[in-house]
Amino acid sequence: RVSRPRASVVHHAATKLSPSVRAAAVNMSTLLVNRPQYSWLRELGLGEDNDGVYNGCWGGQGQVVTSYCPANNEPIARVRQATMAEYEETVQKAQDAWKVWADVPAPKRGEIVRQIGDALRGKIKALGSLVSLEMGKIYVEGVGEVQEYVDVCDYAVGLSRMIGGPILPSERPGHALIEQWNPVGLVGIITAFNFPVAVYGWNNAIALICGNVCLWKGAPTTPLTSVAVTRIVAEVLERNHLPGAICSMTCGGADIGTAMAKDERVGLLSFTGSTQVGKQVAMMVQERFGRQLLELGGNNAIIVFEDADLNLVVPSAVFASVGTAGQRCTTTRRLMLHESVHDDVVERIAKAYKQIRIGDPWDPNTLYGPLHTKQAVQQYLAAIDQAKQQGGTLVCGGKVMDRPGNYVEPTIITGLPHDAPIVHTETFVPILYVLKFKTEDEAFAWNNEVKQGLSSSIFTKDMGRVFRWLGPKGSDCGIVNVNIPTSGAEIGGAFGGEKHTGGGRESGSDSWKQYMRRSTCTINYSKDLPLAQGIKFE
Ligand code: UN1
Repeated sequence: RVSRPRASVVHHAATKLSPSVRAAAVNMSTLLVNRPQYSWLRELGLGEDNDGVYNGCWGGQGQVVTSYCPANNEPIARVRQATMAEYEETVQKAQDAWKVWADVPAPKRGEIVRQIGDALRGKIKALGSLVSLEMGKIYVEGVGEVQEYVDVCDYAVGLSRMIGGPILPSERPGHALIEQWNPVGLVGIITAFNFPVAVYGWNNAIALICGNVCLWKGAPTTPLTSVAVTRIVAEVLERNHLPGAICSMTCGGADIGTAMAKDERVGLLSFTGSTQVGKQVAMMVQERFGRQLLELGGNNAIIVFEDADLNLVVPSAVFASVGTAGQRCTTTRRLMLHESVHDDVVERIAKAYKQIRIGDPWDPNTLYGPLHTKQAVQQYLAAIDQAKQQGGTLVCGGKVMDRPGNYVEPTIITGLPHDAPIVHTETFVPILYVLKFKTEDEAFAWNNEVKQGLSSSIFTKDMGRVFRWLGPKGSDCGIVNVNIPTSGAEIGGAFGGEKHTGGGRESGSDSWKQYMRRSTCTINYSKDLPLAQGIKFE
């Protein structure tokens, strides 16, 4: 508000200047980064024009992109992306940095990751606010994903003293059989707009303690978050007199992504995004027999049985379908209700939907913000049209909202067949398809019949059913929950899914193994040469 009179003063003064100077002045004044209420962006080191390349030095000679706020479509600030020459220079610097980093003992690498976690803690509110401003998710969710990065740093610090392989019993006397794990070298990380901090964090913290260096390309529509995160990480590396290229960044679009996928020097490519793009990336990486870690689409279901505690079901379904405006890969897209509870649950959820507080994502009172882009709004409308054509009934929502920004109404659709094409499609928007089922077998089969296999939940009190759900004929997803929503996983477990979700696992458990290569080492410390399998070669 304070900025309005100032902006008009600039505009007035500018009218006396040449058109190009005038345009530049108007442009400067309209960027959100220049308005007093967004002065906290400066705390993150952001200005009007920001370098989108980091490899120990900052740069960015490529295309300039403007980042827009999804809540009002106003420009926040600009980022200078990487050219191919800068990409090349960065990969070389990252390789040089690896020579230093690989020699740092793992627990000492953990100490650096601990400092990164602490640095993030210190900036958690500002960074969470930036996520909210640039991605459009609500403030608590923005802070929440910075917290995921902090948590995975803590986890990685512990891991840095625990990773390693077993010493196995050798069948030969005087021989040791040892499993040794080594870093893959350079880990390329391509992340999506919807978790512009956390997904980089999962990869970065684990890859680092394993002894890898990282090269990050964030989403082209959240470049300011990539720059702000890299600034925080770079400061820790530089303070410790380590090469900054250990955590490199090249902002860019498909050109940089393709270069990373095809680059033999990228030991592991971790890609998070759509199944469609993921498939192209996977083919390019496979073509060179590279390693990949894919986190692609989901089509997650909550199944509610007749014995479910509906007081858990309603808030779970609402959080998982409306949260992040339906833009999590773990968002609940299919709600399967037993016929005995169907009408009751639909009524209660529809009532809750109508009470969702919609507003500016950074307003602490808001529960529901905008979609990230204008294209997503079009995808939302197209999906609703298709759902109606395929036999669906709108219970609530279905419209674009009459306000600035990319706001659409959270939507519930009932009456579609479980195998309607639109139900089997992941549209990354807040549309929930409600399906009515009769038997457990039917519900489990519907859960598994989609191409994707990320997350899944049942609500029941029946112990037998719980263990059937976890077992071989139960859910085929990577994340299999009971009495909690499909979204909101903790970092301590392995995160990822099967089938068209890509098969990768990030974050906790033994996901670290994907960032390392295994050597089976046999050492003969005797004076004889016995052969395995009792073979005599004499
Ligand atoms: C994603 O949507 O890409 O489980 C990640 C969750 C979050 C991570 C989602 N912890 O919903």
